[in-house]
Parts: sequence; C-alpha cells; structure tokens
Amino acid sequence: MSLPKKISKEKDGKKIDAPVKKGPAPIGLVRGMKDILPSEQPLWDLMRDKARELSSAYGFERIDTPVLEETALFVRGVGKLTDIVEKELYSFETEGGERLSLRPEMTAPVVRAYIHHGMLNLPQPVKVWYIAPMFRHDRPQHGRYRQFWGFGCEVLGEENPVVDAQLAFLGWLFMKELGIETTVRINSIGTPESRANYKNALVTYFRSKRSKLSDEDKKRLLKNPLRILDSKDPAAQEMKTEAPQIVDWINEDSKAHFMRVLEFLDELGVPYQMDPYLVRGLDYYSRTVFEFYANSSTKELAQSALGGGGRYDGLAETLGGRPTPAAGFSLGLDRIFLHLKDMDLPVPEQTVDVFVAQLGDQGRKKAIAIFEELRKSGIKATEAFSKDAIKVQIEMANRRKVKFAVIVGQKEVLDGTAVLRDMDSGTQEIVDARKIVHEIQKKLGKIV
Ligand code: HAM
Repeated sequence: MSLPKKISKEKDGKKIDAPVKKGPAPIGLVRGMKDILPSEQPLWDLMRDKARELSSAYGFERIDTPVLEETALFVRGVGKLTDIVEKELYSFETEGGERLSLRPEMTAPVVRAYIHHGMLNLPQPVKVWYIAPMFRHDRPQHGRYRQFWGFGCEVLGEENPVVDAQLAFLGWLFMKELGIETTVRINSIGTPESRANYKNALVTYFRSKRSKLSDEDKKRLLKNPLRILDSKDPAAQEMKTEAPQIVDWINEDSKAHFMRVLEFLDELGVPYQMDPYLVRGLDYYSRTVFEFYANSSTKELAQSALGGGGRYDGLAETLGGRPTPAAGFSLGLDRIFLHLKDMDLPVPEQTVDVFVAQLGDQGRKKAIAIFEELRKSGIKATEAFSKDAIKVQIEMANRRKVKFAVIVGQKEVLDGTAVLRDMDSGTQEIVDARKIVHEIQKKLGKIV
C-alpha cells in the first residue's frame, strides 16, 4: 500500500491539503518534565543568586550529591509507606543488580554524605546548602512536576531550637527578598514515640467515622493514618476539625523546644501561624515541622506549599550513623518561579559594551582576534561572525544597545587599523588595531 502524498486538514472550517511530513516524528518532552528556556533564565538567575548570597551570608557551604542513590536510602530515610517512596519513586535495577532511584528529595542524601565522609568529626554544626533537581513520579499539574528544583539548607549536629527558627527565617527571608510575602505554618510533632501514640488516637477517631471516609483515606487509615490530615477530600477535611491534635501527645521536652522556636521566630519578626494538623509527608521528622505559603497567590497555587522543612534528629541513626540532631528546609523553585513570573518584575538587561563587526574573510579573522583580546581584558563584547553584511551587524549592535562597535574590513586589515564607532553619536574614528582595547578601556572610563 502506498502512502497518500497529501493529507486533508481543517483550517478555519475549510478542508485544506497539507503535504505529508516525511521522516521520523519529533520526540516530545517527557510527561511532567519541563525545559527552562533562555528567556526564563534571568528569573532563575535571580533565585540562584539570592540562594547563593543568603546561604553564604548565614554560613552555609555548598554541597552537591549524585542524582542517583541506592533505593534503600529513601525507603529507610523518607519511609516505606510515604507517598514519595511508595508511589513516586523513579527506581530501576541495574544489570549488576543494584537497586537505584532518582532522588525525590535532598535531606536523606545529605545525611548519607555526612555519614559517608565522617563529617561528624568536623566542628559542629555542619551547615550545607544546595540547589538541585529532584524527581517524583506524581500526577503532573500546575506547579507540580516530575522533575523540580529545590533550594535547601541543612544544619547537622545541633539541637538548639534557635537553629529551627533560623532555618524557618532563612526560607522566609529568601522569598521576602525576592518580593514574595509568605507565612510560615508551624507545628511540633514531638518524638517518634509520641507520634506513635498520636497515630493510635487518630486511628481510633477516624475509625469511628470510617464509613464517611473516601476509599483512598480508608487505605491511609490502615497504612499511614497521619496522611488523612493532608487529605483533599471534603469529608476528611470536615472530620479533621474535631480530630485529636498532636500537641496533646508530645512530651514536655518537645513542648519546651517548640516554645523556644516560637520565641525566636517572634524575635526575628517572621510571620507564622500554628497549624496543629501539620505533620508533613516524610517520616524522618521529629519535633519542629514547618511549611511556607504565599500570602497572595493564584487559585491554582494557593494550596501548594512553596517550601517545607523541620527537625530530623533520628535520621542519621536510621541511616546507620551516630545519633545526630539536625534540621533543614527546602523550597520549590519551580513554584517560586511561577510567582515571580506573575509579578512582572523588570528583569535587568544583560548589558554589553562593544559589538565587533567584520567584513570579508580577512576582516573576520582579525575580528575574532580582537574579540578575544576584548574578552580577556574584561570588556563585555558581542559579535555575529557568521553574518556577512555590515548593515545587518550594525542593526544587531543597535538592538543590543552597545556603546561602541569595532569594524574591521579588508582595508583595515591591510592598514593594521580598525574603525571605532560611537553608537550614540554615530561618529567614527580610525584606531591602530593594536591599541583598540586600550582605546575602548579609556572611553569606558576603565582606565584614565
Ligand atoms: P517537601 O515538602 O517534600 O520537603 O518538598 C519541599 C518543597 O519542594 C515543597 O514545599 C514544594 O514547594 C517543592 N516540591 C515538592 N514536590 C514538588 C513537585 N512535584 N513539583 C514542584 N515542586 C515540588 C522535602 O523534600 C524535605 N527534604 C525538606 C527538608 C529539608 N526537610 C528538612 N530539610
């Protein structure tokens, strides 16, 4: 059977014949993943620069860990019955039989690295920060992706409540300095023992109302009752208002710790709201837990936390290390990006001072060398060496709003000169090619 040469398509209600496209179908983007395009990079740079600036100002050092880890790290660290591990892990087995996963979060990898590299022997606390891609095979939607970027800070080897407060402050400050006002929702979930007792109380409570729960929440009742508190089902949300609160189950130590955290937050001027039902979806937390929510948000994003964190004093031990009190937070940069985009911020233009234009083959060769000299001397220059027409190049120079253009043609190559054009006034002068960098530095006020 031969393929038709044309296929019929509808355009403006009329049938038109379109030629059949030859060759393989284009390969699409993996569902739930996204590209960060050049036009979006200035806003991402704002976030990256702010993350670098604040973490360094508060004494954090950068850490990077591999994207792949042993699956056991997350099963043990984050928790076998959490949604992240049970439903959302990208896992596979290598030919050698290793069971590996793309990291769904960074806290367990950071603690693994802390143990692996004996950071316990460094002066404590160890304070590290990261910007890293993470992977969760969740249902994609606005602000929820299967690969997303997190900025996080972790403090290992310190249990003073001032650390919890400083971390919540830092996450809040990052967004505030980017122009996003947020409120910290905060709670204490006590020790693993008090949490176990609280779980029993919750099960008793929800079991008495089991018939009203959704099928999903009935499953949670059996496996992970704390997750019912996060249920989006209206019936569960209604029942939640009367459910036991964890604060009534935590011990005096945890209560005192929590009070201190709140006092420090008051001192730091961080707006917070106590949320007695905030428990977080990862098993490693103990005592303080918090999440960040934007004060004003689009409807689609209103329910989405911009970040979360808390204390995880038992994690190092769970992962085979010595007992190490620790706390941290991670912010969802993709969601923060959506907020920044909505804010229509004036994005600073990348300024370039000089355009190097050329004519003819000899001119092009000389221009490449001049461009290199300019770059090495720290002058911001741009070019369009693949273009032939001078007119096109000068138009590009105008578009980039450069102050000067250097023009090198056949004649200039023979004379050992270059034309230096002031783009504002349009005046041109002939300059010795060997002195062009010096001349531009003078005009830019870089030297006298
Ligand atoms: P998490 O709450 O699971 O915490 O994630 C932190 C933040 O990452 C979320 O608040 C959200 O903004 C963003 N996020 C999570 N999943 C997605 C997704 N699918 N698409 C876009 N953004 C997402 C943690 O991961 C903990 N490790 C935080 C932490 C650090 N706790 C202590 N230290």
